[in-house]
Amino acid sequence: MKDLADNPLCHMLGCSRPIVLAGMGGVARSELVAAVAAAGGFGFLGMVRESPELIAAEVGRLRRLGIDRFGVNIIPAATGSDLLARQVETLLALRVPAVTLFWDIDTRLVRRLREAGILVVYQVGSVAEAVDAERAGAQVIIAQGCEAGGHVRGATPLQSLLPAVAGAVQVPVLAAGGLSTGGDLIAALSLGAEGIVLGTALLAAEESFAHDHHKHRLLAAKAGDTLLTETFHINWPHGARVRVLASAVTAGKRGREVEGERVVIGDEDGRPIYLFSTDSPLRSTTGDLESMALYAGTGVGMIHAIRSARAILDGIVAEAEQLIASTCTSPDDAAEASSSVCYAGEMGGTYMGMMDAAAAGDEAAKLAGALAAVLAQRPPRDANAPPFSSEALDLSPRLLALTLLAGGRQARTLSPPMQPDVSPADLSGRIGLLSARVPEGALRTALVSLRSALERTVWPDAGTALRQTAET
Ligand SMILES: Cc1cc2nc3c(=O)[nH]c(=O)nc-3n(C[C@H](O)[C@H](O)[C@H](O)COP(=O)(O)O)c2cc1C
Repeated sequence: MKDLADNPLCHMLGCSRPIVLAGMGGVARSELVAAVAAAGGFGFLGMVRESPELIAAEVGRLRRLGIDRFGVNIIPAATGSDLLARQVETLLALRVPAVTLFWDIDTRLVRRLREAGILVVYQVGSVAEAVDAERAGAQVIIAQGCEAGGHVRGATPLQSLLPAVAGAVQVPVLAAGGLSTGGDLIAALSLGAEGIVLGTALLAAEESFAHDHHKHRLLAAKAGDTLLTETFHINWPHGARVRVLASAVTAGKRGREVEGERVVIGDEDGRPIYLFSTDSPLRSTTGDLESMALYAGTGVGMIHAIRSARAILDGIVAEAEQLIASTCTSPDDAAEASSSVCYAGEMGGTYMGMMDAAAAGDEAAKLAGALAAVLAQRPPRDANAPPFSSEALDLSPRLLALTLLAGGRQARTLSPPMQPDVSPADLSGRIGLLSARVPEGALRTALVSLRSALERTVWPDAGTALRQTAET
């Protein structure tokens, strides 16, 4: 398979795997960032509202470990102006390589960071916000679906948001929200991302600074045990929603907040933790941990053990590679096995056949974009379910192969408006027509394989509709 890391994002970040640790406040400290970097990924220190002294200490620790490619997350909208100013001065003085920002778009801050040579990443929850962030100067966009753990910016499921964002901006896009498996990685790449962001999956890592209570609650949770709520809000702009594990607090059993009254339920390094605050329990937290915000994304049901960050990344990449390999050699595709879809490089030369490579690549890119657009309209129905539908997970290895053969351009052809009128049957027909016009080889194999997957397993109605059309 074409190297998963062979994309502009990995070159920009300087990592060898397209997997990024979210800048989780409190949880993503230097120990976890270093472990992710050592495993080939890229990590952000979660430094929201942290003191300049802690930021400097954590950056120093990373540098002493020899990690020089990392980032820092801060959130202007959730930080008082004095502290924010001191945080920014610290980041500039430390010359950190990258900063990721979240919530309201702060154009002046983006400019300042860029002028200092810092790579700016913005996490967004809508297409409009992605466009604004790019216009402000962000060099990478994180499309955060509503399946994400922690603070959730938008209301759109990732399967819909990701291809739309990838089509609307020029800069590389990362997918975030409920991701935890190799299948999720392939699905995200096939829908326009150049990598994935992991929060919850790495919150459960040995090296994360989360309290064991939180980690064990993640292990015990099933898919569907999370919910979006405004219950945990102290310290944040009004109306901000978080995704957490359901608990007595979210069920209203700890009562409602009384204006002006703060109930202390714990302590974090000498700082009181209040009921309904956004603080989640850390290694250094004591008190009523179960009543704190137990952040979790909708992928939580796939987390079964507390493992090292390396084991988590290795597992995701191995699973992704296995999926691609088995797609290329599945019995249904055996007839085509001699020209594996895995060899993305094959498109380089000029075809002797009916269509030349450039035209065939263009057509394939349009088809891949149209398929992504159809999938974008069919996200999982349950808002608390993992982000990708079973049909998206089924189709994505083949869609990714097609995308790579088309030169990785698929999602960029999706620029808005999307293509709402394309039906699965239309698509299957278009794939059939194109495969008849390209010579034997990797591209034809990918097209045939994709079409049969569409008709056989995913959308049998597409095949029926086609046959009916052919018969009339
Ligand atoms: C415990 C926790 C803390 C988080 N804190 C932050 C934060 O401080 N800043 C931020 O930009 N995003 C934060 N997020 C959101 C992540 O950036 C990301 O969108 C999310 O983790 C992705 O979904 P997932 O948790 O299902 O992987 C947090 C998420 C979690 C789970």
